[in-house]
Amino acid sequence: MTQRASSEKSGINIKKILVVDDYLPTRKLIVDTLGQSSNYHIHEAQNGPQALHLFDENNYDLLISDIMMPGMSGMDLLALIREKNPNAAVIMITGNPTTDLTVSAIKKGAVDFLTKPFDIDELLYKVDIHLRQKEMLTGESLEQVLAQNRLREKTVELSKQGYIYDSIDESPMDNDAIFHKIAELALKLVDGEVCSILLFDEQDNEFHEKVVSGNSEGLLKNYTQSPSLKMVYNEVIERKEAVLIHSDDHPEVAPSLICAPLMIRNNILGILTIRKKRNREVFNKRDLHHILSLTKRASLNLENKILYESIYINVLDTLKSLISSIQARDHYTEEHSQRVTEESVRIALSMNCSINDIESLKIAGVLHDIGKIAVPDSILLKPGKLTQEEYLIIKNHPTIGENIVKPIILLEKERRIIQCHHERWDGNGYPIGLKGADIPMLARILSVADSYDAMTNNRPYRTAMSKEKAIEELIQNVNAQFDPDVVNAYIKIL
Ligand SMILES: [Fe+2]
Repeated sequence: MTQRASSEKSGINIKKILVVDDYLPTRKLIVDTLGQSSNYHIHEAQNGPQALHLFDENNYDLLISDIMMPGMSGMDLLALIREKNPNAAVIMITGNPTTDLTVSAIKKGAVDFLTKPFDIDELLYKVDIHLRQKEMLTGESLEQVLAQNRLREKTVELSKQGYIYDSIDESPMDNDAIFHKIAELALKLVDGEVCSILLFDEQDNEFHEKVVSGNSEGLLKNYTQSPSLKMVYNEVIERKEAVLIHSDDHPEVAPSLICAPLMIRNNILGILTIRKKRNREVFNKRDLHHILSLTKRASLNLENKILYESIYINVLDTLKSLISSIQARDHYTEEHSQRVTEESVRIALSMNCSINDIESLKIAGVLHDIGKIAVPDSILLKPGKLTQEEYLIIKNHPTIGENIVKPIILLEKERRIIQCHHERWDGNGYPIGLKGADIPMLARILSVADSYDAMTNNRPYRTAMSKEKAIEELIQNVNAQFDPDVVNAYIKIL
């Protein structure tokens, strides 16, 4: 007698499980693993239509389905199965459990996920727990149904939290884009009709519109037109807490409204206001909770960003003042750095460099000769030819510049450009002697712009060359000093 037959005979309630996966090894692993238990009766299908056919003929307690399948996807199968039997418990298998996918599958009625590669214990645990829950549910005591509902709500809640975190943290570094993202998320989370973000100016004690998203006749009009709403805003500012208000108290906000503060280091940055869709039920405490999760996460994200920006700007200001201190000694350096920056950016744009590269060039261009701060006046301003020793001191400036910028981890890429701006394509440059494509691309661009500018401007030791002569020099030094692609690109512009 087989195990299964003995279980049936002993009166144990055998559960019927359908496993759907087009990939045989995974399907076999699940079937074999579950098949070891005498409590389960397993069927398998290799695609959606086959699964639906089996589902029509059998009353399954649980379905385990892969999401990625050719033809009918696991998500489509899930929807069809739930249509046929809303009580069917379905566990989805996925290799890539994004929050979007999770939310979408839970909305369609999946009870759980198995993430590939899954281990056998996890599979057995999940199958067991969901079969028990299903039994509980079909046991039909009201208490049990409520418990099940609470569990489901909790799951949806958890995935909403995950959704907030993922979306906010993925958001771009651009300020306006972040505010738009926050407003859009708020609308999605609580089924809002319109969401606005007002920034609060402590100086004039006024709100300034940042973003209005959704279908709006404008909460802001309400704000300026409604003294009672302004009082609500003031209350949020004062108490630094979110409020949920209904039309009973404020007819102009029908049906209901949530106002939540965006805070940075315990200071009010602004207020997010969201109004419920008309003809829908009013906001409840759970909606308030979601909005609070969102504004807290967004506040943290904005705080980091603003801190980052202020440090960055602070550091750049310090470095620029260093450059100015060189200018006090050598007027040429600052103007030269400015021109080299502009020309480098022009070359980089014509070579289709990325926006990030352009930003790096703007910084590195201004700072490229910062190491000259350590070169004494007697050498830096010497009108005549430099001695061998003096030249060695000058040649140190890329390394000194690199060292000045080194502690600023934000300027890693710029540091390399500063360090390598006197490297040569043929490997005979300084300070390292890098060759060809080993020299960072942006340093190769800066090197061409730097040399052209030096040639076409008066120096203490020689007068400026004509544009034509300088171009000739660039061409003559292609493959020796310069990257041919960069020189080509620059000559086209010139
Ligand atoms: Fe230099």
